[in-house]
Amino acid sequence: MSTKLHRIQPVNGGFRLPNSRLIALRIWLFVLLISLIFGGVLVQAAETAGQRDARLQWWREARFGMFVHWGLYSGLAGTWNGQPVGTQGGMEWIQQRVKADTETYARAAIPRFTPKPGFAREWAALAKSAGCRYVVFTTKHHDGFALHDSKVSDYDAGSVLGRDLVQEIVDALRAEGLRVGFYHSVIDWHHDQYAYNLSQQLPHPLHGRPYPNGEREHARYLGYLHAQVDELTSNYGPVDILWWDYSSQDFQGQEAWRAFDLMDRVRQRLPGVIMNNRLFRIPEAGWTGMAMEATIPRIEPRYGDFLTPEQHIPPTGMPGVDWETCMTLNTTWGFSEHDHAWKSDETLIRNLVDIASKGGNYLLNIGPKADGSVPTESVQSMRAIGDWMRVYGEAIYATTASPFPGLTWGRCTKKTSNTGGTLYLHVFDWPADGKLVVPGLRNPVKRAQLLGSGTTIAAERTGGGVVLSLPGEAPNPIASVIALEFDGRLEVAGRP
Ligand code: GLC
Repeated sequence: MSTKLHRIQPVNGGFRLPNSRLIALRIWLFVLLISLIFGGVLVQAAETAGQRDARLQWWREARFGMFVHWGLYSGLAGTWNGQPVGTQGGMEWIQQRVKADTETYARAAIPRFTPKPGFAREWAALAKSAGCRYVVFTTKHHDGFALHDSKVSDYDAGSVLGRDLVQEIVDALRAEGLRVGFYHSVIDWHHDQYAYNLSQQLPHPLHGRPYPNGEREHARYLGYLHAQVDELTSNYGPVDILWWDYSSQDFQGQEAWRAFDLMDRVRQRLPGVIMNNRLFRIPEAGWTGMAMEATIPRIEPRYGDFLTPEQHIPPTGMPGVDWETCMTLNTTWGFSEHDHAWKSDETLIRNLVDIASKGGNYLLNIGPKADGSVPTESVQSMRAIGDWMRVYGEAIYATTASPFPGLTWGRCTKKTSNTGGTLYLHVFDWPADGKLVVPGLRNPVKRAQLLGSGTTIAAERTGGGVVLSLPGEAPNPIASVIALEFDGRLEVAGRP
């Protein structure tokens, strides 16, 4: 056959493809279109703002979740060779802190990791009684040990303990009606093809040292990472959250993790899933640097659903985006027997209120011990939050951010519609003169009452807003709540 026939011929001054070529091109375009549709690519791109709102609705209303860091490091408990590694900071990083290679670490840690039967039911009951609506737990942390029964690894609970701990945890959470979130570390200190020297910023126990096993093929690690995520997203029913951890400016996204492919695979299996922004470290995903505070209120949907400020509450919230502050109860995520810097109930409850008043979620961490039992201090803190939530939960769940720029006496959350709504006034500092000023509120007050007792509170409109006359004693020393019902569309002076 002459190659000439296949060449494009000029026709009337233009170009025209020979007929056979045209047909082939049409068939090719048709196949492409079908595969795009069935591959879910078009379906993804087409998610409307309304569909996204519907997908995120339960999460936005939940406001409060429990984080769990638990794995091989939990048995080491912040101690290495009989010595405390430190009293502060993340002891789930102990392998990195002591610069142990994976064999040395595993030898020390595996015999100490002894999950007792039924441990997960304790977690689930604790989360439930604290008022959490969801639990995110470590399916694999940076040390690389997987808590599920993985077919692509020997470094997993299935191989080492003959158990699928992920299954046990998922079952227990669902039995309590809690939503399920998988934390999954993309950083991996175990896999022999994880090419840690590609990043100067990501932690690795052998960082800066030559690979002990010759050249590494990072793409092979990525095959493994994707395969484990496939297992996790195929075998445990409708997982609600994928909580990735984490990336650096010099190693992130498609290059580091084949992130878009990873997210697409997850979405194809779990269409309702909600994912965080930590497969990336760029401004489009809300990051401006490596510091914990280096985060801006911006996230384009292809990079995830929500931002993850860590160990801090953004001072003015993150208007216009979904966000979740994750925080420890002491200073470590994974259990340490040396960390006694427990936050007070007052701090924890006020943090929850503060976050809700800024439109965010609170993901509060427990670090269970090697057998899965939760440290007493953590149980007490979670129960204290639960006691408060049982009385005041209405002022947290399904509320939105405060309409006031700042309040001297506490915080505000709200539920509104076009015809009226409720402001929840969380009073931290009960006024000595009994007068609580709600600055700039213009709406007629329908009713004001103390949540819990139902005591009616007199309200008076003045030029400066609304003044409430409170009883002498604060009903709750940490945060008392007044539900103020108003008529009409909310109007606060000085607010657009
Ligand atoms: C960090 C740490 C990690 C912890 C996580 C929780 O990125 O590396 O140990 O799991 O934050 O947000």
